Amino acid sequence: MTANYATNISAQNMGNIADVLGLKPVVLAPMAGVTDAPFRAAVRSFGPALVYSEMVASAELLRDRRSAALRLKADGAAGPLAIQLAGREPGALAEAARIAEAEGAILIDINMGCPAKKVVGGLCGSALMREPDLARALVRAVIAAVSVPVTVKMRLGWDEQDRNAPELARQLESEGVQAVAVHGRTRAQFYEGPADWSFIARVKAAVTIPVLANGDVRGTEDAKNILQVSGADGVMIGRGAFGRPWVIAQMQAALDGAPVPADPPDAVKWQTALRQYRAALSHYGIDLGRRVVRKHLGWYAESANAGKELRDALVRAADPEPLLMRLAGVLQSEAA
Ligand SMILES: Cc1cc2nc3c(=O)[nH]c(=O)nc-3n(C[C@H](O)[C@H](O)[C@H](O)COP(=O)(O)O)c2cc1C
Repeated sequence: MTANYATNISAQNMGNIADVLGLKPVVLAPMAGVTDAPFRAAVRSFGPALVYSEMVASAELLRDRRSAALRLKADGAAGPLAIQLAGREPGALAEAARIAEAEGAILIDINMGCPAKKVVGGLCGSALMREPDLARALVRAVIAAVSVPVTVKMRLGWDEQDRNAPELARQLESEGVQAVAVHGRTRAQFYEGPADWSFIARVKAAVTIPVLANGDVRGTEDAKNILQVSGADGVMIGRGAFGRPWVIAQMQAALDGAPVPADPPDAVKWQTALRQYRAALSHYGIDLGRRVVRKHLGWYAESANAGKELRDALVRAADPEPLLMRLAGVLQSEAA
C-alpha cells in the first residue's frame, strides 16, 4: 500500500495508517456490549483481523471504573486492537487516549456516531457531527497526545437535512485524522432503514485518507458491493458478525481474491461458542461473564440453526456449559 493517503499527518502523529489497515481491510466494528475481548478472540480464531474495542467513555475511564478498564484492556499477543473512545472534553479524551495507547492500542478511534442520548456526562457520539468546532478540538487534542494513528467513526450526518459527513471528514482530515469509518445512516435513523452506501462515496471523494464503509454488510457479496458502490478502502462489519465470528475472515478472503472458506461445520461453531463462553467467565468472573455472554449463545444457536427449544435452553440455563460441551462434541473428560 502506498503512503499517499497520509498527506495531512501532523508531526506528532507518526503512526502509519497504511501499515495498520493493510489493503482492503475487513475490520470488526466497535459494538458496546458485544466486541469484548472474548468475542474478539473468537473473530481472530478464524484469521488475523483488526478488531475494535467496545466504546470506552473517557470520563468513565478517568474515574477509574473497573468496567471501563476491562473494556480497554488490549489483547496483548492476540493481535492488533483499535480502541474506541467517546467523550466531549478535549483534555479528558486526550488523557484517555494516552491510557489506551499505553495499553497497546494500535489506533485510537473517536466515536462520532453513537446515537444514544446520553453516555456518561453528556451528549456523545453523533452529537459531535453538529459541533464541528468541538469535533476538531477533540481530534486535535488526541492527536497531540498519542503517536498511534487517530481515526473517527461517524454517521452520514444528524438527519436527512444535514448529511455533513463529507465536509466533517474533510475538516478532520486537515486536523490529522488518518482514516474515517462511515456508518451509512443518519443519527435520526438510529438503526432503521437500509444503510446508504452510495452516500459514503461522497465522503470518499472529499478526503484522501482511507475510508471504511459500514452498514448492513452481512456476507461476502455485500462486502464486495459496498466497496464497489462507495469506492471505500475497506469494510467495517457490525451485526453481521453476531454469532458468526468467521465472516470477517470469509469477507477478507473474498476481497483479497483468495478462496473463501466455507462456513464452519456446526461442531466447530459450538466449539467456538464454548471457547468464548469460558473466556467470558475468566474475563469477567462467573456471574457477570454468564450474563454478558448469554446473548452471544443465542446468536450462535441461530447461526447453527439450533431451533427455538435448544436456543432457549442455552440462553436460560443457569450453567450452559454442559449443554455447550455436548453440542461441541467435547467429552466431560476433556473439560478441564
Ligand atoms: C449492539 C451494538 C452496539 C454498538 N456500539 C457501538 C459503539 O460502541 N461504537 C460505535 O461507534 N458504534 C457502535 N455501534 C454501531 C456499529 O459499530 C455499526 O456502525 C452499526 O451497527 C452498523 O453496522 P452493521 O450494519 O454492520 O451492524 C453499535 C451497534 C450495535 C448493534
